[in-house]
Amino acid sequence: MLKQGFSRTDYCGELTERDEGRSVSLCGWVQRTRNLGGLIFVWLRDKTGLVQLVFDQTVCGAEVFAVGESLRGEYVVCAGGQVRLRDQAAVNEKLKTGRIEIFVDSCLLLNQAATPPIYIDDEHPDESESVRLKYRYLELRKPSMQAMLATRSQVMQCLRTYMFTQRFTEVETPILTKSTPEGARDYLVPSRVHPGQFYALPQSPQIYKQLLMLGGTDRYFQLARCFRDEDSRADRQPEFTQCDLEMSFAREEDIQTVVEGAFHSVFHSVLGVEVSLPLERITWKQAMEDYGSDKPDRRFGLTLKNLSDWGKDCGFSVFENAVSAGGSVRGIRVPGGASRFSRKELDALGEFVKTFKAKGLAWMTLGEQGVKSPFLKFLSEEKLADLKARMQAETGDALFFVADKNAVVFQALGQLRLELAKRLDLIDKNRYDLFWVTEFPLLEWDEEEQRFVAMHHPFTSPMDEDVPLMESDPGAVRAKAYDLVLNGVEMGSGSIRIHDPNVQEKMFNMIGFTHEEAWKRFGFMLEAFKFGVPPHGGFAFGVDRLMMILTGAQSLRDVLAFPKASNGSCLMMDTPSAVQADQLELLGIELRPQEK
Ligand code: AMO
Ligand code: AMP
Repeated sequence: MLKQGFSRTDYCGELTERDEGRSVSLCGWVQRTRNLGGLIFVWLRDKTGLVQLVFDQTVCGAEVFAVGESLRGEYVVCAGGQVRLRDQAAVNEKLKTGRIEIFVDSCLLLNQAATPPIYIDDEHPDESESVRLKYRYLELRKPSMQAMLATRSQVMQCLRTYMFTQRFTEVETPILTKSTPEGARDYLVPSRVHPGQFYALPQSPQIYKQLLMLGGTDRYFQLARCFRDEDSRADRQPEFTQCDLEMSFAREEDIQTVVEGAFHSVFHSVLGVEVSLPLERITWKQAMEDYGSDKPDRRFGLTLKNLSDWGKDCGFSVFENAVSAGGSVRGIRVPGGASRFSRKELDALGEFVKTFKAKGLAWMTLGEQGVKSPFLKFLSEEKLADLKARMQAETGDALFFVADKNAVVFQALGQLRLELAKRLDLIDKNRYDLFWVTEFPLLEWDEEEQRFVAMHHPFTSPMDEDVPLMESDPGAVRAKAYDLVLNGVEMGSGSIRIHDPNVQEKMFNMIGFTHEEAWKRFGFMLEAFKFGVPPHGGFAFGVDRLMMILTGAQSLRDVLAFPKASNGSCLMMDTPSAVQADQLELLGIELRPQEK
């Protein structure tokens, strides 16, 4: 029995047959115990895994044996003993250390533990999320969680090392700052010194990194915390980490090359996967035409076909009207799909596309017994044959169509594509499809506000050849903006920035800011831009989203040590929470009584 203190020679999960005969000292938590009378088996766990301790009364003596008898789940111990090979019959192939065990000769009970409210292993199905998040520190003891944290740390380390080799300087930018226009709501922090005034937490370091380029930093990067007050989803958290970078005197391809190298490096060191470079580039227009999405999952087919030319006089008024109103009719072919969907399932798919604003889903099945479709009666023989040819349809296929404004058709069919792939299990989970989407539109039309808004952010440069369109046809202007997409997830976005103050003013005007408003909000930046801005551009990608793909996690919550629940709260610390009246008073804040 160790009388004083504790020492550690090894980690539990790292011992192997090669350690046979060594005297070791291990620290950790009790996973479980089995008492066979004169023999007690205890699984001891630390961040590296499990190892079996054996308390054999004839080896360790009565005093140490008594400590062994007192052990319960999650008790904290330091145990010393000798590594021995297990008998062949006792080998546990499921355990990494299953060929050895430790014959204990000393044991110090460092702490007792209450019965944990969740199972601390990866075998039991997960308890409800609210319990897991409340006791996150216990969940973190699970091997899968420790593996995730280790991988995350490795990713961060790998990114840092890579960026240094590319001559980037890591700079920390302020957290107490001003609103950044990334399109989400800001988290505000009241100022005590300036009552009634607020800081905003950064949605990204966008403005600072551009000012760093003005400041001569040339190549900046940061593993930056960003804060966005938006509803959390599986791939969205209110706070998250970006690998954020900015480069001076750089063109699009220079920035993309650096980013590609970063992904190559992470995939190589974390997964042992060699990403082949340079990555493929497709334009935004092509992505929309083929997949109905600017972040397509290309691990399966089911591409969209534009049938407007056929539909404009096909006999089915729903299609004809959509085309004559300036919209389109497009279709998806599901090879062999004719026998895959019951009438009920077809109806359910119709309801599915309606959640994306489509008015309906027209379908056609080409069964052995003939063609079936709710709109078959409107088509001539000729039109039907033409449709089949355009869709390259064969007997046995199912076809789906949506007719509407382009934006609705893309959204509905883009989502239907994903839904069909899920239902029909078409996604190759072992494939990593990493590519660029380029030439995004500079602006998009906001129906609610009835004005153009920046698609990326208002510092994004238009393509040189499209500058003349800024006044005549703003919606058609393409930007020097690019996204990186991995398996249908937007990993990151970037752009070349505007460095001409006149173009910047024009941009602010186009998104509805008067000269005065632009100066009021971004005056410091417009002012700064008078003093010799280098051409510059950059990129930021979500480290959490990358982690999700690297680990195969279903939610961002699984790749963060302390995530927020879906309603944005931290169940473990019970935040957000009320504050003391005197704190509010100091800030000059008075709360309106909340309606129950
Ligand atoms: P953007 O707003 O596209 O660009 O963000 C870049 C990347 O950050 C990740 N991300 C998120 N991850 C988790 N939870 C969220 N709520 C969340 N929001 C964004 C995504 C996204 O692709 N300043 C620009 C970049 C630039 O132009 O250089 C920016 O922030 O992976
Ligand atoms: P209806 O003539 O309205 O009964 O519609 C006939 C079929 O067309 C139904 O299966 C509808 O779901 C489908 N449909 C209706 N509107 C659209 C549309 N805009 N695009 C595609 N299909 C539609």
